[in-house]
Amino acid sequence: MKRILAVLMTIALLCTALLCTASADDRIVIKFAAQGDSTPATQESIDAFNAMQDKYVVEWVDMTNDSGAMKEQLITSMKAGSSDYDVLSMDVCWAGEFAAAGYIEPIDQLMRADGLRASDFNAGSMSAASYNAKTFALPFFPDLGILFYRNDIVSAEDAEKLISGAYTYADLQAMAEKYRGEAGTTDGICFQAKLGECLMCNLTEYTAGWTDVKGGLEAMKAMVSSSAVPADILNYAEGETANSFIKGVSVFSRNWPYQWGEIASNGTISQDQVGVAPLPGGSTVGGWLLGINKNSANKDGAWEFIKYLATEGQKTQATTGGHLPGYNAMLTNEEVIGANVMLSMTGFQNALATTISRPVSAEYSKTADAIINAGHAFLSGNAELDATVAIIEAALAE
Ligand code: GLC
Repeated sequence: MKRILAVLMTIALLCTALLCTASADDRIVIKFAAQGDSTPATQESIDAFNAMQDKYVVEWVDMTNDSGAMKEQLITSMKAGSSDYDVLSMDVCWAGEFAAAGYIEPIDQLMRADGLRASDFNAGSMSAASYNAKTFALPFFPDLGILFYRNDIVSAEDAEKLISGAYTYADLQAMAEKYRGEAGTTDGICFQAKLGECLMCNLTEYTAGWTDVKGGLEAMKAMVSSSAVPADILNYAEGETANSFIKGVSVFSRNWPYQWGEIASNGTISQDQVGVAPLPGGSTVGGWLLGINKNSANKDGAWEFIKYLATEGQKTQATTGGHLPGYNAMLTNEEVIGANVMLSMTGFQNALATTISRPVSAEYSKTADAIINAGHAFLSGNAELDATVAIIEAALAE
């Protein structure tokens, strides 16, 4: 009798398991095209959403981390009228282009129906998310360039100078040269000098928001030619930079806030060994936005996910991901503030107060391409300073 009962119970359990699987499979799949995340934040946010849902299940289509390459990949898909992706993660520097091209849906009515206002979200991100007086996206995460430094290596006096922002790139270079080699480091500083959008952001900072093109180019050239940087700095994007810093190879690094989250998830150093500071000429504003593919067959589900990720999901983005929250209510959320101490650091607050933008242009891609190519040629020693300044000034004036 006992044996029969056991067999019956096993059959019952198997049926339950099968039914559960079937109901999970019955959920409508929402495809989320988002760049690779070196912290566990994106996957954690998706898992949390999926765990609350019986109607939709989000699948992450993990894309490249190179902003320009991801844009090309998405444009190819959008031009073909594809509905492969329901939710698109878009860089603030090209989201407007996607709205203008009609690739993404306006979301004003959806926001209104759910009681969300643009003012509930990061202002810079929302201005990048609007086009022709309509809103097309909500923040995935806002970004700003910051200087990370090893507080167990840099003297208290130098740290104070960095945190205040009252220093120059020449000062930073001198510090990087001075501290390189301490506590097992082999490089002074890393940042993004690779050909691509990442270089555009760094050039924006060296030129103090394009107010001093010549001085900025000179300072950056001096830095990349110095002993402060790794020999292949001209091939460093965010990934190489973060890897160097979180593994204790470099004393300083210029990167986005996610590097804070990555120290915790993948680092060999700890967050206690790290301080943050504003950059000498200001911090470039960056970030990513969430929009709905115009051709999506599951717009309701796409919106459900965006709504979650841009509001409640910002907690995970800020704590696990290290990001500045894009939903303003999270800026004062105790759990967020307690878990991400970087956000309350004076150096971080000073960086937030000195943000600068990439050039604003109706044809941003064209302007950026001209500047990036000229800048990289100059830094590589393949172009003269004056000629480079002329190309950049002309591109900015267009
Ligand atoms: C970061 C920024 C983005 C920028 C990119 C450049 O992802 O958020 O705005 O364009 O870096 O690499």
